[in-house]
Amino acid sequence: MTVYNIALIGFGGVNRALAELIAAKNQLWERDLGFRLNIVAVSDLYLGSVISPNGLDARTLVEANFAKGGFGQLSGGSAEANNETIIKTAPADIIVEATFTNPKDGEPAVSHCRWALSSGKHVVTTNKGPVAIAGQELKALAQANGVRFEYEGSVMSGTPVIRMAEKTLAGAELEGFEGILNGTSNFVLGRMEDGLDFNSAVRQAQELGYAEADPTADVEGFDVRLKVVILANELLGAKLKPEDVSCQGISNLSATDIENAAKANSRWKLIGSAVRNADGSVTGTVSPQQLPLEHSLAAVSGATNAISFNTGLLGSVTVTGPGAGRIETAYALLSDIVAIHTAQNAAATKEAA
Ligand SMILES: NC(=O)c1ccc[n+]([C@@H]2O[C@H](COP(=O)([O-])OP(=O)(O)OC[C@H]3O[C@@H](n4cnc5c(N)ncnc54)[C@H](OP(=O)(O)O)[C@@H]3O)[C@@H](O)[C@H]2O)c1
Repeated sequence: MTVYNIALIGFGGVNRALAELIAAKNQLWERDLGFRLNIVAVSDLYLGSVISPNGLDARTLVEANFAKGGFGQLSGGSAEANNETIIKTAPADIIVEATFTNPKDGEPAVSHCRWALSSGKHVVTTNKGPVAIAGQELKALAQANGVRFEYEGSVMSGTPVIRMAEKTLAGAELEGFEGILNGTSNFVLGRMEDGLDFNSAVRQAQELGYAEADPTADVEGFDVRLKVVILANELLGAKLKPEDVSCQGISNLSATDIENAAKANSRWKLIGSAVRNADGSVTGTVSPQQLPLEHSLAAVSGATNAISFNTGLLGSVTVTGPGAGRIETAYALLSDIVAIHTAQNAAATKEAA
């Protein structure tokens, strides 16, 4: 039986949900996936850090309700986050990076990933920052160190998008994609169709937990822009940086715009897209678009996400699913670990042959 020792960097919604899943499902994974996960370290800005080479009890981590610096009370614990030490010295096979997304320079998550990969540890992350800003460097670093850098949850949380397109659509001649990649802005547009003005719709999204206290990244398209960069670079071989992608959000759409779209049998959606041009270059765009009702993305409502891949051989292929949520995003981390496990098994089989 394979056991992967993991270290969690950040212990907020997503990594806590992963610990919950480990507590509930390790036995099932052992039977169905061929491995179990053992948490050997955690580091979090608020809770502090702890290393336990034999493994921490996942249920205790989730249920103990630690106060600020609370990991300091545990054996091997400290009231401070010690990310660098944990990442470099904890006996982990996989570092699970789920700290906050920094859209400007990706830090400190880029450094977390560099430390891990340079120490020969796999990285799985849901954090868009390091993938959008330093993805190519980190992938090269992973390859040089014989480990993997996986980030399925950075776009559409656990809904399979990156690996699905890369593996299952291989050979289908992907020419571009267009997607509803931010649930908050899609929810806001839906409420505006129901008659709310923009500010009231945003307030409702905040009350329901869909929008942050500062909704700028969601409604101005900055979150979608990072996702367009990730997908364009990964799937279309582009080398885009966030500033290469033109970006317009939904805050300028008025009630009249929404009404006029309805009269024209269409509706506004915030679309993130990229297309491969005739000269091989790739153009990425984020903008509100008025889609006819028969468009495959027009009926995607609420906080749901969707992406249409435009392919030469299959035409348009659309995937719809959750774009956020603690458990949904933790599932993306599990799917990354499954990918690592599958690759390890394939390498071992090849070596044995
Ligand atoms: N939640 C989702 O639905 C979702 C979906 C897709 C992607 N993501 C991405 O996944 C990542 C984690 O999301 P989340 O919802 O778990 O966020 P979260 O609830 O805010 O948790 C992040 C945790 O990381 C801690 N942290 C921040 N900076 C740190 C540092 N330098 N060192 C150690 N710990 C640090 C935070 O501590 P403090 O609270 O003290 O700052 C917090 O406990 C984010 O990058 C997010 O964008 C989330």
